[in-house]
Amino acid sequence: MNFDLTITPIKDIESNIEIVIISEKNLDHRFVQDKALLEKAGFQGEQDEVCLLIEKDRLYVAVNAINSVNVRTATATAIKALESTSYKTVKIASYMNHPKCTAALRAMVEGFVLGAYNFNKYKSEKSEFKIKNITISLEEYSEYELNIEACARALNSGQIVAEATNFTRDIVNTTPDDCYPEVMANISEEMAKENGLKCKILKPKKLRKEKMETLLAVARASRHKPRVIHLAHKPKNPKAVVTLVGKGLTYDSGGLSLKPADYMVTMKSDKSGGSAVIGIMKAISEMNLPIEVHGFVGAVENMIGGDAYKPDDVLVAKNGKTIEIRNTDAEGRLVLADTLCYAQQEVKADYIFDFATLTGASVVGVGHYTSSIMGNDDQPKDAVIAAAKSAGEFATKLDFNRYLKKSLKSDIADICNISNTRYGGAITAGQFLEEFIDDDHKDKWAHIDIAGPAFVEHAWGENPHGASGAGVRMMTRLLEKLSSDK
Ligand code: BES
Ligand code: ZN
Ligand code: ZN
Repeated sequence: MNFDLTITPIKDIESNIEIVIISEKNLDHRFVQDKALLEKAGFQGEQDEVCLLIEKDRLYVAVNAINSVNVRTATATAIKALESTSYKTVKIASYMNHPKCTAALRAMVEGFVLGAYNFNKYKSEKSEFKIKNITISLEEYSEYELNIEACARALNSGQIVAEATNFTRDIVNTTPDDCYPEVMANISEEMAKENGLKCKILKPKKLRKEKMETLLAVARASRHKPRVIHLAHKPKNPKAVVTLVGKGLTYDSGGLSLKPADYMVTMKSDKSGGSAVIGIMKAISEMNLPIEVHGFVGAVENMIGGDAYKPDDVLVAKNGKTIEIRNTDAEGRLVLADTLCYAQQEVKADYIFDFATLTGASVVGVGHYTSSIMGNDDQPKDAVIAAAKSAGEFATKLDFNRYLKKSLKSDIADICNISNTRYGGAITAGQFLEEFIDDDHKDKWAHIDIAGPAFVEHAWGENPHGASGAGVRMMTRLLEKLSSDK
């Protein structure tokens, strides 16, 4: 999709169709050109409601009020509504509420790119999106001193981050037999080559040498051998050093503690955390952010078989802690334990963030739309939540407490891989991970459970059915913020 920015008035721009964003309270305003037609069509002006006036080549989309979040879902919905039409070019006004505030412009571009996404790798008949060009008119601000450069930057960043989100969606949506650990490693290597990133792949022999025995145990029953991926973006004079770690379970059958049939479907999405890390690395390298970022992915498949790890096993993690296994479906925390230890051994970071579809309990607790943010210290958690908000993702804090922590005690090992209570499962999973964060990183770490929003069963906002790319926008935003601080 190509975007053009222009100061040409909207009426003078040649295009097949115009998209008009209209706020509910302006519906009756005299400047609304097609008031009578909209009324006839029963257009109410509710957020994301669309009305296509074919004879006018105009598509109206409503927002409750003009702000970034609303504009993002509005343009996503609008472009989706044009999917089966034969329009090729679109024009739209920029709707910036202030000439200095380019957030809505960026959100508009993100909405278009995210809304135009469709995953048709497995369809015999591939529907092609015909819209290729979108012209955005900045004319309303021609009386102000418009900072065209800032507008162009906003457009560019929006396009990069949304395309990286779609890249993550593609990885997650790919089936487990087309995307297994080796494939995730290949995707990373290819992306790294294109974007000038360093990329190191750890195979089983090296994983054994690094004493990543818990990760290897989870992987053991699969015919697909595990990989740990390390991507690095290392500019000169970085503003900070950040480590990202992702859960990359290319399939989670539950292992011997097998998932019931209904719960196993969609578990190709258990690689969403790792796929988000790869997408974030793509975005920040394309933006050329002056910040050093390391992305680690633990890519593993959790299967059953004679060789499978079992409840009653005691495993030794990379940091020497012993773990009593009571449920092989709590595998993500085991893979993350070793990957976190390895990441901290390799990089001393100012911040460490991990992304994982870790618990069903997170979904139960905060719903399908929201990520749960955990950790020891408020500062990194608050930074994630603020970044999520400005990027248009939902995130909320779940606090640790010492009473819940006790539920992870084991009689025979240092810790148990599940808690002994039915409640607070997202928090106890986070507290399990805490055991694998070293003292230097204790207050610099936040754990992001994306189990809710990572995979969308009923389309919402800018997300179609399937993978959402959760985490990519929020973390890219945070890394942009850290790049501009000081
Ligand atoms: N991958 C799942 C968590 C999950 C569930 C992600 C639903 C997305 C949607 C994870 O590995 C898992 O199975 N967790 C168990 C933990 C339990 C055994 C303590 C769970 O949440 O039930
Ligand atoms: Zn599991
Ligand atoms: Zn899992």
